[in-house]
Amino acid sequence: MYIIAHRGSSSAAPENTIAAFDLAAQEGADYIELDVQLTLDQHVVVIHDDTVDRTTNGNGLVKSYTLDQLKKLDAGSWFDQQYTNERIPTLQEILERYSQQIGILIEIKHPKQQIGIEQAVVNIINRFAYSRHIMIQSFDIHALERIRAFAPSLRTALIIKPNAFKLTKRKLTAYSLFADCLNMKKTMINRWWIDHIHTFGMDVFIWTVKDQKTADRIKKYPVDGVVTDHPPFFLKEK
Ligand code: G3P
Ligand code: CA
Repeated sequence: MYIIAHRGSSSAAPENTIAAFDLAAQEGADYIELDVQLTLDQHVVVIHDDTVDRTTNGNGLVKSYTLDQLKKLDAGSWFDQQYTNERIPTLQEILERYSQQIGILIEIKHPKQQIGIEQAVVNIINRFAYSRHIMIQSFDIHALERIRAFAPSLRTALIIKPNAFKLTKRKLTAYSLFADCLNMKKTMINRWWIDHIHTFGMDVFIWTVKDQKTADRIKKYPVDGVVTDHPPFFLKEK
């Protein structure tokens, strides 16, 4: 079972920063998970929200900033003063630093508001010798269909919420054409469904584990990966 550090080791360091990703790698996670968005000048940057307000000292939409402007923001102090030098990373910087070291699960955020983000992400990944350990995920089916068209060998995961969990045979067959994995919310975990999804040739990941009790429950299931804010919940017994 892959241990996937959600926005890095984000319980102990500011999410989606080098500090959180370095910590995840030190802790022995198999993957880092991160979220990407486009800047005003079409660079791919790593940040979860569509605004900078929550996780930096700036305000406004990510896509209203150029990369140079975003790089001036402090992306760590909101979490703790010791992280005052953290900056919003670019996807390029993340791949340079980690692609030979740890798996990278890239979530495409708000694809409807970010025309061209799928091609921009694929263009960056293509600069690296990528393996099965770079994956793309999204809640958006069409974003993943575009990724499959642009880069057929790139592994993909469809993220699913409980209210979307009407997984008929027809839907699972359709998903399996563009997704290698279903990333299911932890409340949806169920042995029968895990086995059933596996019969469609897709892996099953679970998101997002934030406490030891839930981690211990998840360990009893034959899932292929688990997304967690705190990798040590799982790594002690790996
Ligand atoms: O891996 C799934 C998870 O990352 C989706 O939720 O909001 O944390 O990006 P969110
Ligand atoms: Ca995410």
